[in-house]
Amino acid sequence: MSDTPVVDERLLALLRADLTAAAFTVDGVAARLGPVASAALHREQPLPALLATEPPTPPTLSGGHGDACGVLIRLFTLGRPVAAAALAGVLPTLGVEGAVALGLVRLEGGRAGFGAAQPAGDRQAVATCDLRPYGDDAHDWWVASDLSELAVGGPLRADHVLGIGGASTTLASWTVRRPVERALDLGTGCGVQALHLTGHAGFIVGTDISQRALAYAAFNLALAATERREADRPDAVPPLDLLAGDLLDPVAGQQFSLVVSNPPFVITPRDEDLTLYEYRDGGRAGDTLVRSLVRQVGAVLEPGGIAQLLGNWEVPAGRTWREVWGEWLDEQAREGVALDAWVVQRESQDPAEYAELWARDGGAQPGSEAHSRMYAAWLRDFAARDVERVGFGVVTLQRPATDRPPWRSLDEAYGPVAAPMGPAVDAGLRARTWLAEHPDDEVLDVAWSCAADVTEERHGRPGAEDPSVILVRQGGGLGRVVRAGTLLAAYLGVADGELTARAALEAIATVLELDPADVRAEVLPQLRDLVADGLLV
Ligand SMILES: C[S@@+](CC[C@H](N)C(=O)[O-])C[C@H]1O[C@@H](n2cnc3c(N)ncnc32)[C@H](O)[C@@H]1O
Repeated sequence: MSDTPVVDERLLALLRADLTAAAFTVDGVAARLGPVASAALHREQPLPALLATEPPTPPTLSGGHGDACGVLIRLFTLGRPVAAAALAGVLPTLGVEGAVALGLVRLEGGRAGFGAAQPAGDRQAVATCDLRPYGDDAHDWWVASDLSELAVGGPLRADHVLGIGGASTTLASWTVRRPVERALDLGTGCGVQALHLTGHAGFIVGTDISQRALAYAAFNLALAATERREADRPDAVPPLDLLAGDLLDPVAGQQFSLVVSNPPFVITPRDEDLTLYEYRDGGRAGDTLVRSLVRQVGAVLEPGGIAQLLGNWEVPAGRTWREVWGEWLDEQAREGVALDAWVVQRESQDPAEYAELWARDGGAQPGSEAHSRMYAAWLRDFAARDVERVGFGVVTLQRPATDRPPWRSLDEAYGPVAAPMGPAVDAGLRARTWLAEHPDDEVLDVAWSCAADVTEERHGRPGAEDPSVILVRQGGGLGRVVRAGTLLAAYLGVADGELTARAALEAIATVLELDPADVRAEVLPQLRDLVADGLLV
């Protein structure tokens, strides 16, 4: 018998109706739990949510259960058994039998012989998977995955299918949401990226090495599709192909306008007796998996196509992360069509910080023998390659649409960024591409203006007439803060879209009695930089 949910379109439509009626939506769950229990759950502390959803005593029997949302949270998020009779009241159209048939719950205890549709009062329904609401601005979705560590109460199975986590929402936020013909979600897992793609892709391919993950993805996308079918817009459901296989193997020879991937990028020691979790470990040593994806992904990108992925990269002693990426990109360019590359490093950890994060992730408690063993294994693994730092970030690669040379932008952004970040990435790609296609003379001929989210801060000694530091701060995008010298500050002060940069810099040079060529030489690289990140538009 399968241990993943199964697709039955008739039953999925009933499930959707019941979940909606129970207000088991993102907003409904937040309202039901309240801010304290919600925040605790976010920190993986289930106790406040368990107390908040305790069943009434004596239990309410089927029909008109007053706390439908609470029962569903308890069952599917917290992994606690609920009375089958209570569940029957919460799922009036699907019924407990339907939930069993979909592979979402099993029944335990009680007297044999009672049909699941008419459960005996003492039978318990036990969730066989995690099911929780998720959504974007326009949709209420639900996502099934394996029960979390919090529900299982111990280490996860090696072939665990992950639900939506921080990395999933980061990638979803950074994804460029242009309408595209064909999109690929590589390492689709529970299918969360593919769900987002349904809003702007004409055809979606999801791949994964795990058949169990593909079964979850099929279930979640079919459940989402019931919404459009209900709205009598079956044509609005983009066709979906789910393919099993390693990295790009299943799509060899195909072309995509957009590839998204939250790959199993976690660097994991190979020669130790550790559980290799399929969801985070792609079966390669060090950062080889992300590096090979970067090297190979160009082969499935159509001209103008974009690939966005998350990753970790190792930085050996004596090198910078930019040098490491320079080498990866040179290797990519040697192997195929050289891609434009925009890498934003969001975090940099030392080996111990990295080991602590990932030794804890599978369910081992700090201080336990298992945790210490893993921690030591990670430290040995990094030491063997002389790794000093581990970078994490978001990578956007673009296949140039023409035969111009590719551009590279290797940036750091450790603070908060726009949410969603996709529109800023889209604008940044267009700006960088425009800059690559236009020489300095043409950049100078544009009347740039400061973007609406740019502010200026002046800092100075108390009583001083002039500021000693001028900071230019971007409200959205990467949230860049740029220290502006006198010339840049003067230029930004007049960059209002009326005057070309050439004329403005000429005027500044005259006022300050400087050579205009020197002024242009100093400001132009900074101007290009600000255009690339959307501070000048
Ligand atoms: C971190 S999960 C991402 C799941 C989901 N796309 C998300 O954004 O949350 C990585 C996925 O890659 C899959 N995977 C692991 N090794 C793989 C490989 N060699 N080729 C393709 N997929 C792989 C795992 O099974 C898992 O579903």
